[in-house]
This record gives sequence, C-alpha cells and structure tokens, in this order.
Amino acid sequence: KNQTSCTIVIFGATGDLAKRKLFPSIYNLYTKGELGEHFAVIGAARREWSHETLREKVEDSLKESKIQVNDDLDDFLTHFHYISLNVTSKESYQNLHSLITEVEGKFSIPGNRMFYLAMAPQFFGTIASYLKSEGLTNETGWNRLMIEKPFGHDLPSAKKLNNEIREAFREDEIYRIDHYLGKEMVQNIEVIRFANAIFEPLWSNRYISNVQITSSETLGVEERGGYYDKSGALRDMVQNHILQMVALLAMEPPIRLSTDEIRSEKIKALRALRPISGDQIDQYFVRGQYGPGAVKNQEVPGYRSEPNVDAESNTETFVAGKLLIDNFRWAGVPFYIRTGKRMAEKSTKIVIQFKDMPMNLYYKSNDEVHPNLLIIHIQPEEGISIVLNGEKLDYSPQTTPVKLDYAHNSTDKLNTPEAYEKLLHDAIKGDATNFTHWDEVALSWKYVDEIDNAWQQKKATQFPNYEAGSMGPKESDHLLAQDGFHWWSLD
Ligand code: BG6
Repeated sequence: KNQTSCTIVIFGATGDLAKRKLFPSIYNLYTKGELGEHFAVIGAARREWSHETLREKVEDSLKESKIQVNDDLDDFLTHFHYISLNVTSKESYQNLHSLITEVEGKFSIPGNRMFYLAMAPQFFGTIASYLKSEGLTNETGWNRLMIEKPFGHDLPSAKKLNNEIREAFREDEIYRIDHYLGKEMVQNIEVIRFANAIFEPLWSNRYISNVQITSSETLGVEERGGYYDKSGALRDMVQNHILQMVALLAMEPPIRLSTDEIRSEKIKALRALRPISGDQIDQYFVRGQYGPGAVKNQEVPGYRSEPNVDAESNTETFVAGKLLIDNFRWAGVPFYIRTGKRMAEKSTKIVIQFKDMPMNLYYKSNDEVHPNLLIIHIQPEEGISIVLNGEKLDYSPQTTPVKLDYAHNSTDKLNTPEAYEKLLHDAIKGDATNFTHWDEVALSWKYVDEIDNAWQQKKATQFPNYEAGSMGPKESDHLLAQDGFHWWSLD
C-alpha cells in the first residue's frame, strides 16, 4: 500500500471536471478502501477558497453526482486542502511545496506525488516547468503527471507541448488521459478478442468484411462553444477516442498483457493507417454541421446559433470516415467511423460485420441471408450482441436473423464517474496501459492533420448539412454505399 499512498494535487480544482468527475471518483476509491488513510488531495486554482470551502464543494459534488455517500464522509473530507495559486508565479509553487510537505507529514505520505492538470491546456507547459524548477518533483517518492485533453491542436502544437512537459517528467511519468480508455467495454475489446477462441481466428480480412464505429451524441456544444468552434469533431473525438478504439480493434495480439507490449501493438496499428491525401478526401471523409431540428422531440437551434460560435462557422460537428489499415491482417477491410453532436441518440457502439457465406442456399425469397454481426455496446448499454441466422419458423427453407444479447450491466451508467475512477486508480497504482503514449498521440495527429488540411483548403459551402436529431448528412451513407455496405441501425 505504501506505493499507492500519495498526494494528489489537482490544478483547476474549482472547475467543472473536478466537480463532476474527480471528486466523486476519489471518494469512490476511498470508500472502497483503495486509497487507505495515507493520502491527501490538494485543490489548486486561482480563486481564493479556504480548505473549508473546498470541502463543502467536494461534499456538494458528491451529492450532485448521486453516488452513495457513507458515514466515512467527514473523515474523507479531512484529507482535502486548498491553495490559491497563480500558475505563472514562482512564489505560488513555493507555497504549494510547503503545503505538500505539510500534508505529507500529517498523513504519513512517503513523498509520492500525483499532479493532475484539469485546466486550460495553454498552461500545461508552464506548470510542468515550475514543478520541476521549484523542486516539487524532486522528492524520494514517485512523481506522476496526469494530463487532460486536448493534447495540442495539431501535430506541431502537440510536439511543442510534449517537449515542454518532458523537460520535467519522463515519458513513463506522464499519464495522458483518454477517458474512453477508462470505459468498461472499451477495456473489454481486448478480452473479447484475445480470450475467445471463437473470435480471434476470424478477426481478419479473411472473415470480416467491414467494421463500423459510431459514437453519436444528442447534446450540442453546451457552454463549450468557444473551445469547440476552434476544435470541431475531428479533433474533439476522432483524433483521440475514435482512433483509440480503432487501434484496440486492429492491433495484433500482444505477447503479454504489459503496458509496453500493448502500447507497441497499438502504435503499430496506427502506423499502418493509410494516409488520406487532399485530392481523395471526399471519397474517404465526410464532414457535417447541424442545422436546427428536433432532438428527442425537443426543438433545438442550429450550431451557428449556439453561444460563442461564429455565425458563419465552418467547423464540423459531425465526421464520418473510411479508414484503411495497410497490413496483412486488414488489407481491404474498411473501418467506417462516425461521430457527431445533436444526433438522434446518445450511443457508442462497434459493429463487426462478417463476410457472407461463399454460397447462399437460402435464396428462395427476396430476403438475403443476414450477415453475421458482432456488436460491442460501449454506452449507454454495456454488452455484446451476436447476430446469427436461424430457421424461419414456417415451411420454407428460409432464414431469419436471431440476436443473442449479453448485457454487461443494464443500468444506465451514463455520466457516472466510472471511467475516471478506473483511470485514477490505475495512475495511482502506476499502470499506464489505459493512457495514451506519446507515439499514439503523434500518429493520431499526423493522420488527422492531413484530413483537416484538406478541409481547410475548401470552405464547407454546404453547411449546415444535417438536421439536428438525424444521423448526420446523407453523404455519410454514400460512404458505405459506394462499397456495397450500409450503417447498421442503432438498436
Ligand atoms: C469529450 C469531448 O472528450 O468526450 C466532448 O470533448 C464529448 O465533446 C465527450 O461530448 C463524449 O464523452 P462520453 O463519455 O459522453 O461519450
């Protein structure tokens, strides 16, 4: 337990992420006995809060997040401390250093320090360099940096940021968060593939015809218009979450389940992504932006009327794409992806479509034999479904699709701190498997930058091109239709 005993310093402790995700996650870890008693949390931000204010906010956040709070709450809160800090002032770091030393003494913590950056990314580099120059990373225990997205805006800015933080932290001390890697069913992709003899032998271009990844949202950009309008769906979702799922689906089996081995296989898969050149862009990628419409029977405005969004914005709120992976396993198998805001439903799922039988014996009616599908439900349902063919229960030699469902957990886990709880737990234990290595980040940016460059060359004159509450622009369907496929519907 000594190794997991640590001080967690949260930069940006007054912000939304701390309130919605981090405090509830830390409490869950505490109440499950994962943190023990030798830990402390230091909230750091610009505002002038007292320790007491922070403790009240933590308590509020637990109530709002609807998790079950036990009678260990008061003890839990005594571990929280607050410091008002100006991230660009040396003195602030000296004060923080004294506070860390004080709480380490108070809770007998052996100098292990976790620095969690939950704030505006333009300060990441500055904070990292002060942490080092003021000796905050300089103790006997371990030092770790947990860092939120966005990790840069494109490859050059990501490199710059990475160089800055690498001045102060080694690669193995940096935990770059992609919260999709904390999701139960995303972690399960590996288990489904590598622990089941009925899947892995089929997992290639010999038996799979295409893979479809959909991550749709019903929400618009909420209060994040300022950020989102400069980012867009390609950077906000594809560069990180979607490409991480692609890597997990496409990677070769690692020789063992260690962080390095898994990461190196993911990196290899990302290296095999075929770059899309500017003149091919329209055959491979589709961008969309929502106009007004109705989402679940509620009228909502178009993207360009959202707060802090340019009235003539050219930013995409939807992306669909066809990715090709040039290696022996995947040559010829398209990986279709799509993600967007203000779509018909909130759902993330992966559909693996298997190839048709070599010959169709059951062609008597107009019905085609249904292809076999493996569906991995990531959210809100968690589980897998398999679509098989069974006999139609009449006198004809016909088939009918039969769906086998396994629901991992039928309760709606949306917006629970689940993913963050797991990721914090892993980081405290020193397990970086479910965090993104720099090489993954760099390869993902390289891929995405080319698409973005192609898009920047020509304005999206057709925007807005999908109605809020729909499944995106019709070009997204053409993307599959040109290959003889279609998106499998969402249920
Ligand atoms: C974040 C994006 O990384 O992921 C958001 O910045 C998006 O725009 C969110 O809404 C989706 O996460 P989840 O867990 O709700 O699918």
